[in-house]
Amino acid sequence: MNVAIVGLGYVGLPLSLQFAHNGVNVTGLDIDPAKVNAINAGQTYIKHIAAATVAAQVSAGRFHATTDFSAAGQTEAVIICVPTPLNKNREPDISYVLNSGRAIAPHLRPGMLVVLESSTYPGTTDTDLRDVLEAGSGLKAGADFHLAFSPEREDPGNPDSKVAQIPKVIGGYSPACLEKATAVYSRAIKTLVPVSSCRAAEATKLLENIFRGVNIALVNELKLVYAAMDIDVWEVINAAKTKPFGFMAFYPGPGLGGHCIPIDPFYLTWKAREYGQLTKFIELAGEVNAAMPVHVVNRAAAALNSCRKPVNGSRILLIGLAYKANVDDMRESPTFVLMDELKRRGADVAYYDPFIPVITPTREHGHWTGTQSVTWNRETLSGFDAVIIATAHSGVNYAELADWCPLLIDTRNAMAGIPTRDGQLWKS
Ligand SMILES: NC(=O)c1ccc[n+]([C@@H]2O[C@H](COP(=O)([O-])OP(=O)(O)OC[C@H]3O[C@@H](n4cnc5c(N)ncnc54)[C@H](O)[C@@H]3O)[C@@H](O)[C@H]2O)c1
Repeated sequence: MNVAIVGLGYVGLPLSLQFAHNGVNVTGLDIDPAKVNAINAGQTYIKHIAAATVAAQVSAGRFHATTDFSAAGQTEAVIICVPTPLNKNREPDISYVLNSGRAIAPHLRPGMLVVLESSTYPGTTDTDLRDVLEAGSGLKAGADFHLAFSPEREDPGNPDSKVAQIPKVIGGYSPACLEKATAVYSRAIKTLVPVSSCRAAEATKLLENIFRGVNIALVNELKLVYAAMDIDVWEVINAAKTKPFGFMAFYPGPGLGGHCIPIDPFYLTWKAREYGQLTKFIELAGEVNAAMPVHVVNRAAAALNSCRKPVNGSRILLIGLAYKANVDDMRESPTFVLMDELKRRGADVAYYDPFIPVITPTREHGHWTGTQSVTWNRETLSGFDAVIIATAHSGVNYAELADWCPLLIDTRNAMAGIPTRDGQLWKS
């Protein structure tokens, strides 16, 4: 079997490797020549994927990458894993999906399968993507070629999370499309979960991410309410999660980050408007979560104030630029929002992240490009007036932090169990 995977990022690369590992010939298609060259040279650009894993599949001849989309024509299935961000008006931007569709369409042959994996609103696959595929190929979905949607479920930073072991939802444009998609994915994934349509599969992915966004908002709200009552929300969550049924722990933080949770819910709110439907829960969760960075900065200001220092002119270090512990992914990271807000108030801002030595260009925070992580040593760290723990990477030595830094603002309960001095630790 030959498959093409379009978009070799956090989703497409592990999926490619899983197919190749299971003996499928994989052609990786990406518009970024640097990624294509890295793969063909057996290298990696994602921290949790080892170069040796890429090299093994490349040298076995089961995996190669190219920017030439005509290669899709030699495969029986094309799987699209490209970004689905929001535009600057916070509306869905499916241009990457449509551009991929346009690039594939001229190479579609009868009997081929096209699957979309990118998170998106219901209707993208069977309307928007179908339109460009049909227009560019002259073929009809469901009659001449197969079309399906199957959302990615990735748990970045979890070493036990393996593509092959995570059940995969699939919806087809027709029963035959579903059958074809199931046959292709069964070469790489152990458990497949068929649903009745592409739209049901698209809606499933949105439910999963909205569920997280809403529950994180709930604990963020409770964090503020309980703090006012002098109750530690972390203690409460840890106690509540001992309940063996009917409760699932979510944790507060400095705001949402990553490619999914801050973005995907708004794909649904946008689409719901077309149907005259309100999405109050989603909007409210968005509001609560979006208010968190300012809450943290206000808390840092109060902490500095307790030492008779203003934010303006203070040196403040952010620990963790990645949006999640133990990953190197800084997309949509709330740390950027914290840095922007602190800088706006006149602070001198720096960051430390063992996984991100230097800030590479981002869509929204380009002004930080080129900024380097500070070096971890007593001399450097003791020079800061305050340290905000934004992401709790497990490799960070929090005891040294307590030893070296006068003020700690902890948004992740990273300092739990570590002795601190009176007035030094501010939970936020
Ligand atoms: N990262 C995650 O944990 C995760 C989890 C579940 C779902 N998703 C969803 O999967 C999709 C992809 O996310 P990702 O994290 O892999 O993104 P990513 O930015 O890591 O990778 C996307 C890749 O697509 C390439 N690309 C862009 N336009 C292209 C085009 N027209 N043709 C070919 N390649 C193109 C980019 O160069 C990049 O290599 C998104 O819809 C995202 O919401 C991501």
